[in-house]
Amino acid sequence: MRPDVVYNAYKSVKDEKAKVIYMSPQGKTLNQKIVEDLSKESHLIILCGHYEGIDQRVLDKIVDEEVSIGDYVLTGGEIPAMVLIDTVSRYIEGVLNQDSIQEESFSNNLLEYPQYTRPEIFEGEKVPEVLLSGHHENIKKWRTEKSIEMTKKKRPDLLK
Ligand SMILES: C[S@@+](CC[C@H](N)C(=O)[O-])C[C@H]1O[C@@H](n2cnc3c(N)ncnc32)[C@H](O)[C@@H]1O
Repeated sequence: MRPDVVYNAYKSVKDEKAKVIYMSPQGKTLNQKIVEDLSKESHLIILCGHYEGIDQRVLDKIVDEEVSIGDYVLTGGEIPAMVLIDTVSRYIEGVLNQDSIQEESFSNNLLEYPQYTRPEIFEGEKVPEVLLSGHHENIKKWRTEKSIEMTKKKRPDLLK
């Protein structure tokens, strides 16, 4: 993509506090820490490339950070930008109950404990007894143990 076109678009929306993120397979891979850091910024400009990408001269001039959503190549930056917007929005006040974010996967380098709903018995499988007990301390202990167990099983790399 041409540098003058991208630069004009940038100038039409930037302010002094704006941080420019270029969605790029060559960037740092997005993770919860990057998401949390970006959620503290007051103004994000997200730049999406197409075709072979964007002329290097304008990237050098305006981009603060390059962010990738994984080691694979998409046709354009729009879907990566939507991923970034969705994850960052979850940290913005009023979007979600902030308590629920604290326990979600990747906070404290752990995956979240398993979730159960109704009915109490599904195809012969019961909801764990402790979750029906109403005993908050025991439920908390069970959830911590399950979080560690799930992380060891599915993502042991997070515990290193
Ligand atoms: C076809 S890609 C360009 C790939 C580039 N020629 C390369 O090999 O590094 C077009 C655009 O899609 C976006 N894109 C593709 N894969 C991406 C990824 N994994 N993460 C973030 N953005 C990506 C970027 O904005 C990129 O400029």
